[in-house]
Amino acid sequence: MSKDSILIIGSNGQIGTELAESLRLIYGDDHVVCSDLKQPETIKGPFEIIDILDKDGVYSIIKKYSITQVYLLAALLSATAEKNPKFAWDLNMQGLFNILDAAKEGLIKKVYWPSSIAVFGPTTPSVLTPQYTIMEPNTIYGISKQAGERFCEYYFQKYNVDVRSIRYPGLIGYKSAPGGGTTDYAVHIYHEALKNGKYTSFLSEQTTLPMMYMPDALKATINLMEAPAEKVKIRSSYNVAGMSFNPLEIAESIKKHIPNFEIDFNPDFRQAIADSWPKSINDAEARQHWGWSPDYDLQSMTDDMILNLRKRMQ
Ligand code: NAD
Ligand code: SER
Repeated sequence: MSKDSILIIGSNGQIGTELAESLRLIYGDDHVVCSDLKQPETIKGPFEIIDILDKDGVYSIIKKYSITQVYLLAALLSATAEKNPKFAWDLNMQGLFNILDAAKEGLIKKVYWPSSIAVFGPTTPSVLTPQYTIMEPNTIYGISKQAGERFCEYYFQKYNVDVRSIRYPGLIGYKSAPGGGTTDYAVHIYHEALKNGKYTSFLSEQTTLPMMYMPDALKATINLMEAPAEKVKIRSSYNVAGMSFNPLEIAESIKKHIPNFEIDFNPDFRQAIADSWPKSINDAEARQHWGWSPDYDLQSMTDDMILNLRKRMQ
């Protein structure tokens, strides 16, 4: 077994819940410490209450468990951040600084910090958006992610901090609820389809966005973190692509299982956020550098989501 000890900060969230399970299978329960602002309903392995903004508290947990790797997932996502921009900036940036500094000071060896397709903006080429392109995000979330990327690269270049990052698209899974993003509709729609047979989308029918099924996101995350350092040639953040679809297309994939499923549309403030993001992503660098490729497309994701949510609802 690896001697690494991992701390996940923000482990109660959509990604953390599933990432903790996957990392514990690899590293063992005792080598993966979960942490969040509050205790989760069920606790499997070690768990600590942590506020990422409390630098001393974070450092003491790192020392207590001899942590070598931190996965920093605590952040405000796009929709929530727009409602509280100042706090979103403080949380998303200061949280990152606290962990990058811990690595700079030699307390930890490796950092994972997720970025987002939100780093792109309305002036970015929106189809097959390349790794390197115009980036003028106009949401506070995107601005904080873009600044975060620049700081990750800076800490790598100036202080040799081994920080790795992925620009996740919208993530979809059945094990955990999404936490305040613009892409959350693509999770809610499955639950509502199974419970009520209908769904009102807060994005319009033609809003195509890049998305990814959670097993692919976990695979990308862990493969990037386990890649030899020389293969990780980009230290800002990697584009990764899974699939792209709009609300009408996901509804069609659900109708293969629930033929009477109905969708209608009532766009809200999240429409403007979605309209500023790419429709699809070019992930050539991630494929070339560390062998990324996704396993799921829209229909195979829908088949798996429906199967597993039905089991959970029994
Ligand atoms: P989430 O909102 O579901 O979970 C975030 C967790 O962080 C929550 O459990 C929350 O309680 C915790 N948290 C908030 N403030 C904290 C603090 N001060 N100290 C400690 N914990 C705190 O988010 P998620 O979807 O799991 O996203 C995790 C990361 O991945 C974020 O950086 C997000 O920007 C990024 N990301 C997510 C997606 C997606 O579709 N889910 C896409 C792109 C990027
Ligand atoms: N899924 C995320 C959001 O909508 C993208 O970073 O905020």
